[in-house]
Amino acid sequence: MIVLFLTGCVDAVSPPDETLFTMQDTAVTSPATDPALAIDPLVVDFGEVSGTAAAHFTLSNTGGSDLILGDTTQDGSANFTLEVDPSGSVISPGASAVVPVSYTPTGISGDKGMVTFSSNDPIAPTATITLQGNIEEAVSYPETWSYTLDEVQSYVFDPYCTTCHNPDWEPDVADRVKTIPSLEAGDAYDSLVGQETLHGGGALLVEPGEPTQSVLMQKLGPTPPMGSTMPPFGNGLDVLLLDLVEGWIRDGAPP
Ligand code: HEC
Repeated sequence: MIVLFLTGCVDAVSPPDETLFTMQDTAVTSPATDPALAIDPLVVDFGEVSGTAAAHFTLSNTGGSDLILGDTTQDGSANFTLEVDPSGSVISPGASAVVPVSYTPTGISGDKGMVTFSSNDPIAPTATITLQGNIEEAVSYPETWSYTLDEVQSYVFDPYCTTCHNPDWEPDVADRVKTIPSLEAGDAYDSLVGQETLHGGGALLVEPGEPTQSVLMQKLGPTPPMGSTMPPFGNGLDVLLLDLVEGWIRDGAPP
């Protein structure tokens, strides 16, 4: 009865909950004759990739009878590709199968995916691994900045901001008093310099000569006074880019 209960428990959880697995490991010992699926590693981290990267993980049968793999399902980012679909494979006791996986990042926001295996392992009939990675930013910056709007446009607004901050984008922002600023070339100056924040209250997005007072600079930091840090994904802008934006505002935010 206990075995049935725990098995049902795991079935209902997707992705599998680590605590449940720990509980089974101590509470229920699989008879040595049952098949048992072990996966190594459970997290495949590709790190920063330019082009395509390859990795693999290993499915092993640590039990005492044939392990039969059922359906394999993939969720999350489509930038991960299982080079071999192990669905339906049979792994004999003590044997293992290597599954190659490749990753081709397409954007700077990072990727996360999951692959769930099912099998005739009676204790843990499904098991999930996590895939993650990000694109390597092959950007090189000038040795020194001139702190011009052109530089801010090319190194900050174009690569990191205009996918959202463009004239056609109408996000749902609670309590906003005006439209989202367009940061496209030709719009950015008029959208920012001397303009009030869309959150109301009158603070200026860019107050020439006053980087710390400027909402633009505050939004690029870890604790903006309103809304989220920009861009709203990843680990924030490189310090060199923060220095560029700050220097442009400090120098009077010229057009
Ligand atoms: C994924 C979409 C997205 C990206 C990319 C993005 N933003 Fe935003 N941005 C928003 C949204 C949504 C808001 C409104 C909510 C808020 O303030 O957090 C906003 C608000 C802002 C504001 C405040 C506007 C105001 O009137 O108060 C600034 C300044 C800003 N973003 C600058 C940037 C900069 C600079 C970048 C690039 C480094 C950037 N954003 C990238 C979605 C984005």
